[in-house]
Amino acid sequence: MSLDRRQAMAALSALLPLAIATQATAETPSLGSVAAAAGLLFGTAIDREILADGPYRRLVAQQARILSTENTLKFDWLRPQGPEADFTQADLLVEFAAKNALALRGHTLIWNDNPPPWLARFGSGEVATMLDRHIDETVGRYRGRMHSWDVVNEPFYPPQGMRGGWRKGPWFAALGEAYVERAFRRAAAADPSTRLVLNEAFCEQQDGLGSGVREGLLKLVSRLKDGGVPLHAVGLQGHLKPSLPYDDQAFVGFLHQLAALKVDIYITELDVDDSAMSDDISRRDQMVAKRYSDFLRAILTVPAVKLVMTWQLSDRFSWLGDLARKRNPAGRSPRPLPFDADFSEKPAVRAIKEAFLTRIK
Ligand code: XIL
Repeated sequence: MSLDRRQAMAALSALLPLAIATQATAETPSLGSVAAAAGLLFGTAIDREILADGPYRRLVAQQARILSTENTLKFDWLRPQGPEADFTQADLLVEFAAKNALALRGHTLIWNDNPPPWLARFGSGEVATMLDRHIDETVGRYRGRMHSWDVVNEPFYPPQGMRGGWRKGPWFAALGEAYVERAFRRAAAADPSTRLVLNEAFCEQQDGLGSGVREGLLKLVSRLKDGGVPLHAVGLQGHLKPSLPYDDQAFVGFLHQLAALKVDIYITELDVDDSAMSDDISRRDQMVAKRYSDFLRAILTVPAVKLVMTWQLSDRFSWLGDLARKRNPAGRSPRPLPFDADFSEKPAVRAIKEAFLTRIK
């Protein structure tokens, strides 16, 4: 990778005051700028909540160079009642990104999880037509404006017992595994300028689930590339769960196998589940920071890793908070992201910047 030396040195020296500063200041280089100096693109998922929250808008605009949409572009969010899509909210988010000169990733076109109930009434032929129509309309609407699309999300979920570990759902039921290739070819035709991504979960886990998903993914990517399917990157979500077994070096080995198939690698949904960590907040924040640091330092040794995004930037908007409140409204609040619920910087910010800088030789 070719780096601008002056840019890199500037980022390094600008980071020095961090040694004494505990709070983010306007002069502190942002996550996005440190990443850029290291030849990486850094960003975060956001969603419509940001439109009503000025301080969060400012934080995100300051720290991120690229956004993705947490929910609004999903099939069931665009078409909750039936085949007609309502793009009103999606348009607002696309405008928000453009106004702030931030790149945008579309998440996600085809996902077998969470289909809207009305789709279950469709026969196979209608589901296939719906897949084409959804991609034509959605990718076509934002043609030329998207950095990339997660064309297919989470193709594998071996615990469901399907041969090959495929995830069950309406698209798979109607078309079998061919739904993946169909979706990619359709998306490429609708916007030849955007990068097409296959996004997957669980690969960071060193357990039966993680290895099953990795195996399926490697075979699929290899087959798609051999068949000339327009697939540019593999997205690995990176919802890290330190309470489960993990092995960063084994994961790095998997990244090298993927890279050998000539795809870029994007870390698309990074966060650290702190649910099994200490109740002491400062200890917990240190442990979360360490997990970010270890994970990023390991994976950033793989040149194919080009992009890192967190799944929201502040604990206030983490999906893990939503899930925890649902389970136990009186329980403690998760702290999985770089900034806390009041948008103050946590130790993870510095840990992430320092990990980015390990890329500068
Ligand atoms: C999650 C959102 O964060 C939640 O708000 C929503 O209720 C469910 O979906 N993997 C993915 C994301 O690819 O789309 C999921 O997002 C989190 C796991």
